[in-house]
Amino acid sequence: MAKVLLRLACILASLADVGFTTWTPIRPYKDPIIPGFNPDPSCTRVGDQFYCVNSSFNSFPGIPVYTSRDLINWEQIGKLIICNVLSRPEQLPQMAQIYGFTSGIWASTIRYNNGTFYVTTTLVWDKFAQDDPMRWDNMMFTTRNIYGDNWSDPVHFSPGFQGYDVSLFWDDDGKTYVQGSHAWHVLPGIWQYEIDLSNGTIWNPEVLWTGTGGIAPEGPHVYKRDGYYYLLIAEGGTGLNHMVTMARSNGSIHGPYEPCAHNPVLTNANTTEYLQTVGHADVFEDTEGNVWAVALATRNGTWDYPMGRETVLVAVAWEKDQYPLFNPFDPIRVTVDMAGPLPPPRPIPDGGTLVGHDQAITFSANEPLPRQLVYLRLPTPSSYILSPPSHPNSLCLLGSAANLTGPDGMSGTSTFVGRRQEHVEFTSDVILQFEPGQVGEEAGITVFLQQLQHFDLGVVSLNSTAERYIRLKTTTKNSTDGDMSDPLSLPGLVKLPESAGDSLKLKVQAVDASTYVFSYAEEGLRKPEWNVVGYGDASEVSGGFTGTIIGMYATGNGRNSTTSACFSTFSYRGVLNGYV
Ligand SMILES: *[C@@H]1O[C@H](CO)[C@@H](O)[C@H](O)[C@H]1NC(C)=O
Ligand SMILES: *[C@@H]1O[C@H](CO)[C@@H](O)[C@H](O)[C@H]1NC(C)=O
Ligand SMILES: *[C@@H]1O[C@H](CO)[C@@H](O)[C@H](O)[C@H]1NC(C)=O
Ligand SMILES: *[C@@H]1O[C@H](CO)[C@@H](O)[C@H](O)[C@H]1NC(C)=O
Ligand SMILES: *[C@@H]1O[C@H](CO)[C@@H](O)[C@H](O)[C@H]1NC(C)=O
Ligand SMILES: *[C@@H]1O[C@H](CO)[C@@H](O)[C@H](O)[C@H]1NC(C)=O
Ligand SMILES: *[C@@H]1O[C@H](CO)[C@@H](O)[C@H](O)[C@H]1NC(C)=O
Ligand SMILES: *[C@@H]1O[C@H](CO)[C@@H](O)[C@H](O)[C@H]1NC(C)=O
Ligand SMILES: *[C@@H]1O[C@H](CO)[C@@H](O)[C@H](O)[C@H]1NC(C)=O
Ligand SMILES: *[C@@H]1O[C@H](CO)[C@@H](O)[C@H](O)[C@H]1NC(C)=O
Ligand SMILES: *[C@@H]1O[C@H](CO)[C@@H](O)[C@H](O)[C@H]1NC(C)=O
Repeated sequence: MAKVLLRLACILASLADVGFTTWTPIRPYKDPIIPGFNPDPSCTRVGDQFYCVNSSFNSFPGIPVYTSRDLINWEQIGKLIICNVLSRPEQLPQMAQIYGFTSGIWASTIRYNNGTFYVTTTLVWDKFAQDDPMRWDNMMFTTRNIYGDNWSDPVHFSPGFQGYDVSLFWDDDGKTYVQGSHAWHVLPGIWQYEIDLSNGTIWNPEVLWTGTGGIAPEGPHVYKRDGYYYLLIAEGGTGLNHMVTMARSNGSIHGPYEPCAHNPVLTNANTTEYLQTVGHADVFEDTEGNVWAVALATRNGTWDYPMGRETVLVAVAWEKDQYPLFNPFDPIRVTVDMAGPLPPPRPIPDGGTLVGHDQAITFSANEPLPRQLVYLRLPTPSSYILSPPSHPNSLCLLGSAANLTGPDGMSGTSTFVGRRQEHVEFTSDVILQFEPGQVGEEAGITVFLQQLQHFDLGVVSLNSTAERYIRLKTTTKNSTDGDMSDPLSLPGLVKLPESAGDSLKLKVQAVDASTYVFSYAEEGLRKPEWNVVGYGDASEVSGGFTGTIIGMYATGNGRNSTTSACFSTFSYRGVLNGYV
């Protein structure tokens, strides 16, 4: 209780000092500001342009960069799928081998210094133990032209850093430092090294702070203001106890770091807010000197929304010599209805590519895939053929031996490409032309969270290529493909009449917060007649570090496919319907 009162006293004291005078009109906005699978955000500003990155785990290309001038309208940089930080398989060939859905690219930090953008990140291999150096590969990518497609090859930190969440800081004396969370090795806490940016050499390890006692002190960033070095971290784990805490050192980056008296400075723990698990923040300024933070949040506490960890925006009042006050309008909390001194609206001209907007893809031979699409791990290029002469305006997928459940990256990756689910309710459909060439071949549309949690609506050949079935296959943590001994007995299986053309429409619709409906229609009818094949429970594709991707897939279920499946007119339409 004393602690709560102390915190309130601190907040009131800071509120009294908040000078809103430089703040242009306070305007309302809704969180999450960037919906969908977008954990661990980090942002920086150059000129009047904001740039953000976040964790992309097993998806490839990895680390998309988002940009905005008003903090409300966000656009992914680059027109094409190749414009991400991690876009060339040669940059990180190890991506092909990673398995385990919590492996891959963890939290990235974006920074800008003297004409160069830096993205620091960690490739994590969950197959190695926490204290195995092989588990953690920390690195840095750079570019001087963020709108080009030429992010550098990674510079790996050397000697290795057995931790994650690495963040760069340039001090006034010309020295550069990297902070990171030193996981389970030696001492859990926030470690700092000096770094030579030319070759990634790190030296002089020191522990800056171990946090306030919450588990997993992580996600560190250092900011210098008025002679103080402020260290911002996440604690409590990325679940319901997630929080942002701070400490500061007066005059020296090496410390000692004194914890803020009113930690946590941002959290929704122990509240009944719709947005929960708020944490892992980064702070940046706009051109007017107003301070902002981004953080991750999930909806409805129990993680029963499939979009996973999304990005929220928080106005911050940061007075001289004081700790920052996150969300002065409702201190230290994040709500759906937020307010702040937003920059004037600057809509992005190229409207069709905005984050959170509808999408309709008509595949074209002349253009690579649009930037919103991702593969799992590293794709086999020959399995993705755009508009072959036999199928104009189509994306033809040749099924991998691996299906979406297994064998999980250990011997080849699944043929899959998709985009994030960004809305609680949405409809996505596609036209599929597919005549399986051998028994077991399958292709369709999937709601994919990870290899043990996905719903696949596909055309499949089960016992004879003379017959095709439409199957809704639900893979959940408690019911994997092991149950498939008698697949024809399962619900969600429809034999296609011989009269059905080889072109079908497949549709997935999230009709409310908990239900997906899967249906198909024959193509070419004047009015499509949708047949419901089955339902999916959203909680079965929720939870964990990532979020759902709506994708197109093809597999031979254990054998390489002989026939490709051609997809056309893939569309995604979000429904707001009272949700953010
Ligand atoms: C994070 O990445 C996801 C896609 O990987 C994107 O939808 C989201 O907007 C990104 N968030 C930020 C803050 O860049
Ligand atoms: C900034 O970059 C320029 C050239 O790109 C270089 O000459 C200069 O020394 C750099 N300044 C600092 C402070 O690193
Ligand atoms: C990246 O490409 C752009 C345009 O081609 C070029 O201006 C720039 O110098 C390149 N940067 C690097 C680091 O190669
Ligand atoms: C990294 O670069 C610095 C300065 O250029 C040099 O002194 C150091 O030996 C280099 N380290 C390695 C491991 O190459
Ligand atoms: C921080 O250091 C400065 C300069 O030494 C000193 O004036 C100031 O009182 C210190 N602040 C605190 C909170 O101790
Ligand atoms: C939430 O409440 C629990 C139980 O009282 C407490 O242990 C925890 O520290 C609280 N978390 C925060 C961030 O206040
Ligand atoms: C939020 O979670 C609770 C508990 O799991 C559930 O009863 C409720 O329906 C959920 N609310 C929404 C809007 O999904
Ligand atoms: C395929 O299996 C189903 C269900 O067991 C059966 O009805 C059908 O006759 C089989 N088709 C062939 C060609 O064997
Ligand atoms: C899945 O199995 C686990 C452990 O057996 C159990 O705790 C959990 O409730 C089950 N979940 C569902 C959705 O059946
Ligand atoms: C998916 O692949 C795994 C491993 O190759 C296999 O055991 C399983 O039967 C396949 N699933 C289906 C639905 O065929
Ligand atoms: C599938 O094809 C790839 C590439 O040609 C090959 O490496 C792999 O062994 C094949 N897998 C099976 C199960 O035949």
